[in-house]
Amino acid sequence: MHLHLRDGEMLDSVAPLSAKYFSGAIIMPNLIPPVTDKDMLISYRDRIYNAIGDEVFEPYMTLFFKTDYDYDFLKSIRDDLTAIKLYPAGITTNSESGVEGFDIDELKPILDTMSELGIPLCIHGESNGFVMDREAEFIPIYEKLATAFPNLKIIMEHITTAKSVEALEKYENLYATITLHHLMITLDDVAGGMLKPHLFCKPIAKRPEDREALLRVALSAHPKVMFGSDSAPHPKHTKEAPGCAAGIFTAPIALPLLTELFEKHNSLDNLQNFVSTNAQKIYNITPTKKQVVLEKGDMDIPLLYGDVVPMMAGKKCSWNLITLRA
Ligand code: DOR
Ligand code: ZN
Repeated sequence: MHLHLRDGEMLDSVAPLSAKYFSGAIIMPNLIPPVTDKDMLISYRDRIYNAIGDEVFEPYMTLFFKTDYDYDFLKSIRDDLTAIKLYPAGITTNSESGVEGFDIDELKPILDTMSELGIPLCIHGESNGFVMDREAEFIPIYEKLATAFPNLKIIMEHITTAKSVEALEKYENLYATITLHHLMITLDDVAGGMLKPHLFCKPIAKRPEDREALLRVALSAHPKVMFGSDSAPHPKHTKEAPGCAAGIFTAPIALPLLTELFEKHNSLDNLQNFVSTNAQKIYNITPTKKQVVLEKGDMDIPLLYGDVVPMMAGKKCSWNLITLRA
C-alpha cells in the first residue's frame, strides 16, 4: 500500500516485479515533476499498465498534495484516484514542492473537500528537525489534523517509532503503513558498523524498542495497520555515492521475507490480514484476487534487479515464491 514505481526505463524494469506478486498497490506520485493533474495521473497510469504487460495488477493512483486543489477538480478526478499524498516540503526524494508549515486554516478547504469526497490523505510525517526525532516531532500535526478533520481518513505512512503506534491507537481516523525494512532493521544495521547505503531510507530506521512496537502491531495484524513496502528503487550508482539517495528496494522479495519474519514469530496466520485484507477494508478496494504460493526452501536474493540493488542482496531467504495462480 505504498509503492514507488518511478517512470521511463526504471518503471519498465521494476513495475513487472511488483505486478507479478501483488494484485495492486498504492502508487506514489513523487515523480519529476510530481503528479498534480488529471492528465498526468491518467497518462502515468497508462504507462504503468504498459510496463506490466499481461499481469493482473491494479495501480491505485495518488496525486501529490497541493493546497490549491478545489472541489470541482477533485470531483472530476475522484473515480481515478485512491488517495492524495502529502509531503512536507523537501523532506525526501522529489518533495521540494510539498507543504510548508501546517496552517490548519490554509489546509481547511482542501481537507474539508477530501473529507466530503471520501479521499484518504496519506502523509509522509516528518518534521525538518534532527533526523532521529523527525517522526516524533510530526505527531502533534497528525493529532491536530485527526481532530480537526474527523471524517478524513489519514494514513501515517511508513511509521518507524513506538510513539507513532501510540498515536495510531488514540485517534479513530488515523491508520498506518509499515514497511518490511522497518520491521527488520534498526539504525545499528544502517550505520552501526560499515555504512550500508542500501539500508538508507527516509524515515531513517530507529531504535530496537521502536522496531519492537512496530512488530507488535504488524505481527498481530492490528486492523489499522497495513503493509506498505515503500519499495523505492534508485540506480546503483546513486546509492553507492557520497550523497546516497534515500530508498530501499524490496518489491520482488517482500513477500518471502515477510513470510520468514511472520513464521519466526509464530504469526503466519496474520500475514494475509497484514499484507492484504486490512488494506482492502481501510481503502475500501477490491483488487482482482491473485493467489501466491510460498514454499519453504532457500531463495537466493539477487545482487541486482536491472540497475537496482535490492535489500539483502546476495543473502538467502528461507521461503520461496513458486507458483502464481490468477
Ligand atoms: O527512503 C525513501 N525513499 N523515503 C521516501 O519517503 C521516498 C523514497 C523515494 O522516493 O525514493
Ligand atoms: Zn515512499
